[in-house]
Amino acid sequence: MANIAVKPIATALGAEIEGVDLAQDLSDGTIAQVRQALLDHCVIFFRDQNFYVDQHKRLARRFGDIFIHPNFNTGDHDPEVVTIVRKPGDTRIVGEEWHTDTTMMAEPPMGAILYALEVPPFGGDTLFANQYMAYEQLSDGMKAMLADLKCTHTDRKVAGPGSPAAMAKRSTAVRDDDQWRETRNLHPVVRTHPETGRKCLFVNHSYSVAFEGMTEEESQPLLAYLMDWGHKPEFTCRFRWEKGSVAFWDNRCVKHLALHDVHEHDRIMRRVQIAGEKVV
Ligand code: SIN
Repeated sequence: MANIAVKPIATALGAEIEGVDLAQDLSDGTIAQVRQALLDHCVIFFRDQNFYVDQHKRLARRFGDIFIHPNFNTGDHDPEVVTIVRKPGDTRIVGEEWHTDTTMMAEPPMGAILYALEVPPFGGDTLFANQYMAYEQLSDGMKAMLADLKCTHTDRKVAGPGSPAAMAKRSTAVRDDDQWRETRNLHPVVRTHPETGRKCLFVNHSYSVAFEGMTEEESQPLLAYLMDWGHKPEFTCRFRWEKGSVAFWDNRCVKHLALHDVHEHDRIMRRVQIAGEKVV
């Protein structure tokens, strides 16, 4: 078992892990330590890592099956890996709104492991927000109102012909072919984390559009309030990338945002997602 150190970077969430070489085939004991750090801190970070695609996928598989992203599967690359590229001149980037990944799916991913291949000299940080805190700090009245509420999640803004993501100048392309079809699913507004048993808020700007039984217009005021509430500064941390840095987030209880502030430099990341389960 590795002699790991876990160093929180903010009060709300996030910790840097020292003493683990992610390129290695890690022991069950070390994987258990990493998993526990993820559950405790919601997002964990590693510095100075150096691993190839196969090692990246091997690491992800220690936490579950690899999730195949339906909208980045454009046929020209390994479907188990998404390379997230931004280049000078891009008008939009992957993940620039506060979001939880891929929540239009019936079983959204449990997490993602993002590895920095090339980073700008400044900028391009990623922000994370703790959705346990977002839920726990709501009033009792609001919690009661949300208890049985469900929300529709759709990918129509982030992929498909004519979507804002497809129309933008973006180095990482999404599917916008004629065969593409919108995916929609209903999830509870408050979910229970399958491992910790804690409740967290589960709505986000990229995918959540309407409460069950209501129109989008009717849903908007409360939904917008909840989505903005979820990233109050007190609930967040901010990660400054270096080449070789890794972020591993628990997609069940964390929202995140890639800051769109890099305009002169390349930023290249490699992401592998881990399959999740039905949201309850
Ligand atoms: C993402 O939303 O997965 C991308 C995050 C990033 O590029 O920082």
